[in-house]
Amino acid sequence: MTEASPFPAPRRDLCGAMHVHRRLLNQSMTYRAQRARIENRALLYETGRRSSARRGVVTLPVVVHVVYGSPEQNIDDAQIHSQIDVLNRDFRAANPDVARVPEVWRTLVADAEVEFALATVDPLGNPTDGIVRVPTDQTSFGTDDAVKATATGGSDAWPTDQYLNMWVCQLGGGLLGYAQFPGGPPPTDGVVILHTAFGTTGTAAAPYAGGRTATHEIGHWLDLFHIWGDDDGACSNDDRVADTPNQADSNIGKPAFPHITCDNGPNGDMFMNYMDYVDDDSMFMFTQGQRERINACLEGARASFLVARQAAPAKQPAAAAAAGAPVQAGHNGDVERLLHDSERLTKEVLTDIQNMLGLVGRGSGG
Ligand code: ARG
Ligand code: ZN
Ligand code: CA
Repeated sequence: MTEASPFPAPRRDLCGAMHVHRRLLNQSMTYRAQRARIENRALLYETGRRSSARRGVVTLPVVVHVVYGSPEQNIDDAQIHSQIDVLNRDFRAANPDVARVPEVWRTLVADAEVEFALATVDPLGNPTDGIVRVPTDQTSFGTDDAVKATATGGSDAWPTDQYLNMWVCQLGGGLLGYAQFPGGPPPTDGVVILHTAFGTTGTAAAPYAGGRTATHEIGHWLDLFHIWGDDDGACSNDDRVADTPNQADSNIGKPAFPHITCDNGPNGDMFMNYMDYVDDDSMFMFTQGQRERINACLEGARASFLVARQAAPAKQPAAAAAAGAPVQAGHNGDVERLLHDSERLTKEVLTDIQNMLGLVGRGSGG
């Protein structure tokens, strides 16, 4: 009677970010065009044909939308601050466990030079603690982005070219989180994290109580792919980063070094990379190559985060000061170059889209 199900238990082998990525590639010609441009730029940086114009650390203003269906899901401020603290260590290679990176990869460890600060000014210019709390009737959310709009039981994004939007909620299906890659529709841009995989205190639960789900998802938001290349073990696709070894499939739990796949011996998979699927206490590095992709993203699709603070320092002095942002004067050449680049990028994309529309007729864009 109680025969084993013919269907295997669902494997968590497709991150929510890849679901969204594939959905957008299918639905939106604009997204496909944007992704092609972004990938071209990333390749230039990754292969050293172009180097970063960015000087010093960029601080990203963050808004956290706590969308709660129960008092427990309405996580406290301390849990949110604990998450910001983790991000500020992980993206600066200031996390204590970076010392556990195997000797052979120590020189590859990268300080991504990205920091995070809860917003101190809201979109209307009023003071804020960077936290929005919204009750919901929804018992759980999925990757359909319902959590990102008030109309669907969630919370509307703050302008996604000025704030990193993070939604924290109950997620279904064993999903820890998901992200939208750069180049996607602005109203849904940001990351979504399961409240029990968010921060290190409160409802955060082992083995995901190290705040690394947000590190991983923001990695996607800054254009990093999974380290195994999402090819289900085929060894044919990779993460488009040269210094991360080609790896067959995701790793889970707490793997032992070395774990060899895809002829990547003797050192094997770099499973301790944030872009694998291991437990929070087993991931602790980004590489130099990954930083190049992050730089390409910050100087391309997400250049608004670099430019806003520098071009209009008088507009948000309180925000910049309170966020502890370094004073970034004296790099006007960089700013102009970045602005010029993002304008050119936009023009190129528009031309692409016009060409495509000319080819296929109206109606399938968006
Ligand atoms: N989107 C991935 C998932 O839902 C996140 C994996 C993060 N891994 C971690 N150790 N926190 O499975
Ligand atoms: Zn992922
Ligand atoms: Ca690689």
